[in-house]
Amino acid sequence: MSSQVSALRLFDLIQSQRVTAVIYVAARLGLAELLSYGPQTVGKLAKATGADERSLGRLLTALSTIGICSRTGEDRYALTDMGACLDSSGKHSVKGWAILEAELISKSWSGMLESIMTGKTAAQLQGVDDSFELMGRTPEIVDKFNVAMVELTRLVTPNVLQSYDFSGISHLMDVGGGSGELLGAIAQQNRKLRGTVFDLPRCAEAAGKHLQQIGVSDRVEFVAGDFFKSIPAVADAVILKSIIHDWNDDRSISILRNCRQALPSNGKLLLVERLMPEKPTATDEDKAHAMSDLNMMRGPGGCERTERQYRELLEQSGFALVKVNPAGRFNLIEARPA
Ligand SMILES: C[S@@+](CC[C@H](N)C(=O)[O-])C[C@H]1O[C@@H](n2cnc3c(N)ncnc32)[C@H](O)[C@@H]1O
Repeated sequence: MSSQVSALRLFDLIQSQRVTAVIYVAARLGLAELLSYGPQTVGKLAKATGADERSLGRLLTALSTIGICSRTGEDRYALTDMGACLDSSGKHSVKGWAILEAELISKSWSGMLESIMTGKTAAQLQGVDDSFELMGRTPEIVDKFNVAMVELTRLVTPNVLQSYDFSGISHLMDVGGGSGELLGAIAQQNRKLRGTVFDLPRCAEAAGKHLQQIGVSDRVEFVAGDFFKSIPAVADAVILKSIIHDWNDDRSISILRNCRQALPSNGKLLLVERLMPEKPTATDEDKAHAMSDLNMMRGPGGCERTERQYRELLEQSGFALVKVNPAGRFNLIEARPA
């Protein structure tokens, strides 16, 4: 029987998008950057952002109730550790994700019912098969997506570096490697490693800049291409992070078969992905996996898979799963040519 407590818990869940919205406003106003110098009064923050002072005061009250800032005086607020992650210059910034979530993902999710009823992605419902192609028509969206992906990858990179010994690899190719965030970090840690970031031409400029900035451009290059067509055979190991979950089984097999073709018979394939538990429970982590699964369904058309499903997918693509290494909320799945 439903109780009042359950109804109130549900009521809070129903209103979750309000939390996304207040975090978004904080991100757009740059409140974390302003508060990074120390506590500030509402008046000073209003002046710096051009916001209405009384309204901003109410937003700061809401932000303090969710732990983004704390009230340190009658009219004064300080940044919390969590709030500092909204500062774009922070090592653990997720500001780009706050913007992507509010401006694009939550709007797309408002059409989730259509995807559940038809089994189609938002792009397919607009008559376009590949959501990355649709995204490519609006460079602004590509930029916001890429910034958010870099942030998520940067957060998980220390776990990936701990989960696997890359020192036995001479040339590593990151297929769908974006602007080289992951491969750049692996190359920084493994000084002899050569690398190739392989992605669509639209990632070339950002990758070039990033690889130069972190001092690995003499060993890591960007190569543009389409992983559904072919992948250059230059590496003894291939890594793909957050790629296979984007695609349905048929399209994933086509990417993985191209990886197989590009690798020598003693090559290595490494997938960095979330693993869906066989029986998801109500933990935060399982909830994150299940929500990501729906995001893949509404977005590019992929899914989050269990270990068993990855094993089968790899077998159908000419690989054998060797080992699964936990890497924070992600896993590094090692496979070798079968
Ligand atoms: C979800 S993002 C992952 C990026 C990166 N691996 C990471 O985890 O930060 C998917 C990547 O696949 C790339 N991509 C999409 N379609 C592609 C294609 N046909 N060929 C090559 N790359 C593609 C996108 O440009 C994007 O960088």
